[in-house]
Amino acid sequence: MGPKKKPVLIAPSILAANFGELANQIAAVEKAGADFIHCDVMDGHFVPNISFGAGVVKTVHGLTRLPLDTHLMIENPDFFIEEFQKAGTTYLTVHVEVCRHLQRTIAAIRRLGMKPGVCLNPATPLSTLEKILSEVDLVLVMSVDPGFGGQKFLPQSFQKIRDLKEIISSRGLKAIIEVDGGIDKDNAGMLVDAGADVLVSGTAIFGSKDIPKAIHDLRNN
Ligand code: DX5
Ligand code: ZN
Repeated sequence: MGPKKKPVLIAPSILAANFGELANQIAAVEKAGADFIHCDVMDGHFVPNISFGAGVVKTVHGLTRLPLDTHLMIENPDFFIEEFQKAGTTYLTVHVEVCRHLQRTIAAIRRLGMKPGVCLNPATPLSTLEKILSEVDLVLVMSVDPGFGGQKFLPQSFQKIRDLKEIISSRGLKAIIEVDGGIDKDNAGMLVDAGADVLVSGTAIFGSKDIPKAIHDLRNN
């Protein structure tokens, strides 16, 4: 028998939570063993939807002991790095598609004491990461086009994750692989086999009547 595989981490996305019940919803996922709280920040420019900003992230930080994993789907993320650090973010992830000076952005995130992540849309190739991969703590692979919860998982994501895992292992790098969009109990196991370390899920967790079971089903597939 080989070494026991590390259990996959689960990051519930509060985008799908009931905001009138946010404190209870966060307490429920925390109690059910969630590892991070995933905060989806949308600006209505990079993606065709507006969600929430650093004020809500700060509120979430006050409601949980879990690390916050903030996914910025915004133009000009450089303007807001400090705000999200003050709001209590642990991982701050930016999209490569909007960063003209990605190395500078990543360095600024690290300088403020956060763990930098980079995110790729489904149509963005892994080659865009070649020169930055050694500088990041996390790569977020979108398995839907960002902007909305509840979209259908794109199966081409499996090969992208396998390829990324291979690159990270062969170069001996530390970045973890997170996958986001359309994840449910039917694709979770295959995503872990492909190399995912963290699964983001909104609808499958907060849309479920039984949050502990939903998290258990994502983790044990
Ligand atoms: C999509 C967001 C996702 C989304 C996931 O733009 O980045 O985090 O909320 O939600 P589900 O699990 O519903 O696809
Ligand atoms: Zn997200």
